[in-house]
Amino acid sequence: MSAAPSPLSTAPAQLILGQLLPFHADPFAVPPDEAVRHERRGAVLVEGGTIRATGAADALRAAHPQVPVRDMGEALLLPGFVDAHVHFPQTGIIASWGKRLIDWLNSYTFPEEMRLSDPDYAAAIAARFFDLTLANGTTTVCSFATSDPVSVEAFFAEAAERGLRAVAGKTCMDRNAPEGLCDTAQSAYDDSKALLRRWHGRGRLEYAITPRFTPTSSREQLHALGALWREHPDCLMQTHLSEQLDEIAWVKDLHPQARDYLDTYESADLLGERALFGHAIHLAPREVDRLAEAGAALVHCPTSNTFIGSGLFDMAGLKARGLPVALATDVGGGSSFSMLRTMAAAYEIGQLRGTPLHPAQLLWLATEGSARAMHMADRVGTLAAGSEADLVALDLASTPAIAQRADRAADIWEAVFPTIMMGDDRAIAGVWVAGRRQ
Ligand code: GUN
Ligand code: ZN
Repeated sequence: MSAAPSPLSTAPAQLILGQLLPFHADPFAVPPDEAVRHERRGAVLVEGGTIRATGAADALRAAHPQVPVRDMGEALLLPGFVDAHVHFPQTGIIASWGKRLIDWLNSYTFPEEMRLSDPDYAAAIAARFFDLTLANGTTTVCSFATSDPVSVEAFFAEAAERGLRAVAGKTCMDRNAPEGLCDTAQSAYDDSKALLRRWHGRGRLEYAITPRFTPTSSREQLHALGALWREHPDCLMQTHLSEQLDEIAWVKDLHPQARDYLDTYESADLLGERALFGHAIHLAPREVDRLAEAGAALVHCPTSNTFIGSGLFDMAGLKARGLPVALATDVGGGSSFSMLRTMAAAYEIGQLRGTPLHPAQLLWLATEGSARAMHMADRVGTLAAGSEADLVALDLASTPAIAQRADRAADIWEAVFPTIMMGDDRAIAGVWVAGRRQ
């Protein structure tokens, strides 16, 4: 992928006005409210789909008197949200009742994923998925597709049409899944490679090598995908790790020689800096050590972890070990498309572990944290000059309940936190993709 992209769009220059909270540090590495500077009356100068500058509204207006102004009033202007782990094919089965992971996959997920082999249905679900993510202010996702390349085509075609920065991969499975969803070690390698060649680096799109998880991949398949990753080390690799205790016991049965769950990936060359491990809740000390040494990222999926009953992710402990952590909805195991609702669930899980997250940490995780984990924070997830102009404007008084609480806020954090905890798509006052208002 080119390091100096050509202009993303021909959208005319504009100044978008609102409150700003630009981060200059990781709020887990320094005191959270020292990681960010609040600009009460700020502006973002956007041109050619790129952020050219941010700062005080008065100063930017004076310096660029010809540029048209879009005044979002008291709204908070943020980078568009980055959802680092989601299953777009599961859009239609979100909020399916009463099962835990393996039963949930067999009862709801696999039958639905099979339906996406119909190209028309796959296209309709991809369109519905991006309608929902954009309505919730999410401008970049890293998605699993199904095992059928048809679903990958549908995803990328829709993302390209909308000008989105997006990542996805064919979900590889050659065992313990219905026959209609199973590939083989060889076909997973061949199909993934063909899709990667077709889509990786095309416009704003990236391909991620995607073994679903150890129970549904033979050792041969994991090794074949490890070989593919070695051939294309600039790709992300995404999978699931240690989500539920039953799953971990199953992995132990399938791989009695492995030191632990992570070892099943590690021994197949599926551990590295550009790896994204979804869930990672029940980790052994060796696994944490190896993940930290490798610089791999973990993806916290809090609404999914409560909805499917998986457990409480150790955000504080894992961030303290220096591990990159992203935030994600994990739709349809996750119960919401909203990264606001996802931040709220992350806060609640932090509370249950005795480590409440600061609103600055929550906002950072949903934007720059996820973008860093996906190695794209130079392009999305921040308001830095030179970044792509994917933005969201949050109305901090979008419902009567939120408004009355925000009304008595003593500082910006008290003004933002009610929207984090109680906000949904009604709080999304504007979304821009490469500078274009959606
Ligand atoms: N583990 C393997 N596949 C899946 C999936 O689709 N969703 C979740 N939450 N966990 C998984
Ligand atoms: Zn998942």
